[in-house]
Amino acid sequence: MSRFPQTRLRRLRQTPAVRQLVRETTLRPEQLVLPMFVREGLTEASPIGSMPGVAQHSMDSLRAAAVEAAEAGVGGVMLFGIPAERDARGSAADAPHGILNLATEALVAEVGDALVVQTDLCLDEFTDHGHCGVLAPDGSVDNDATLERYTSMALAQARAGSHLLGLSGMMDGQVAVIRQALDAEGFTDTLLLAYAAKYASAFYGPFREAVDSQLKGDRRTYQLDPGNRREGVREAVVDEAEGADIVMVKPAMAFLDVLREVRDTVHVPVWAYQVSGEYAMIEAAAANGWIDRRAAVLESLLSIRRAGADAVLTYWAPEVARWLDD
Ligand code: PBG
Repeated sequence: MSRFPQTRLRRLRQTPAVRQLVRETTLRPEQLVLPMFVREGLTEASPIGSMPGVAQHSMDSLRAAAVEAAEAGVGGVMLFGIPAERDARGSAADAPHGILNLATEALVAEVGDALVVQTDLCLDEFTDHGHCGVLAPDGSVDNDATLERYTSMALAQARAGSHLLGLSGMMDGQVAVIRQALDAEGFTDTLLLAYAAKYASAFYGPFREAVDSQLKGDRRTYQLDPGNRREGVREAVVDEAEGADIVMVKPAMAFLDVLREVRDTVHVPVWAYQVSGEYAMIEAAAANGWIDRRAAVLESLLSIRRAGADAVLTYWAPEVARWLDD
């Protein structure tokens, strides 16, 4: 006589010790990358209203925050620069003394041995129209003219010592032309992270404040349509073939299905970006006492890892790294 139920799945959940032993997904400090903002002309950090706990940094506060992140054990930092002057072609992006390139040099000197120092490679913070590329006379974003600007920006970032370039502009062919240009100048070790499946998302809202975005309109002619999973996977496959060392899915939580399929399809590391809106939503709900902040943050990151991310860009990186160390 068999007793009911025959299958007792709860046996695996009975104590913290058993649960820990059978947990399928890990979350470690070194799997987290901290995005950071540095703004030209600031003398001290300036808080970003829509992202409580995140700031635009001065050079000094940037250095101090990067040291803190390194001490917390995070895997890397991803730098975004906000220039004092903008123009149509984003001249400050590839100027050797442009804010992003100066900050890169400073961070490589300060924390370059402990952290992978990474730089955002895109024009949107540097153009006066706020688009990720340069514009054609008809106002459209000119793919191939933008690739020339990206190439110049890549060389400037590599010369500044960036270990890894984050190609976030969603122009066709960007990985191939940048790899070729870097190799031709001897930068064969500079890593390329392709924001392969980057969606035109409402969850970037707070970031626009963070970088003082000049954009009017949207990025739907270059970023992916949120309805398309297959096309996101295709982007990742193309970027891997063009020579990307790592591919990315962005945003994270609204696109976990894409993340899983990309992880199952390509053979390079896959990262995900938990973007500003994802951060702001949890912070806002927690500030209202509606969710347990720490538990929600950890669950969100664990979910992104479970869906297939080998590493995650998150504004909580140092704080979570310290929690994980406790
Ligand atoms: C563009 C860029 C964006 C983000 C990172 N890089 C904004 C956009 O595409 O509009 C968003 C990051 C975030 O929301 O946290 N260079």
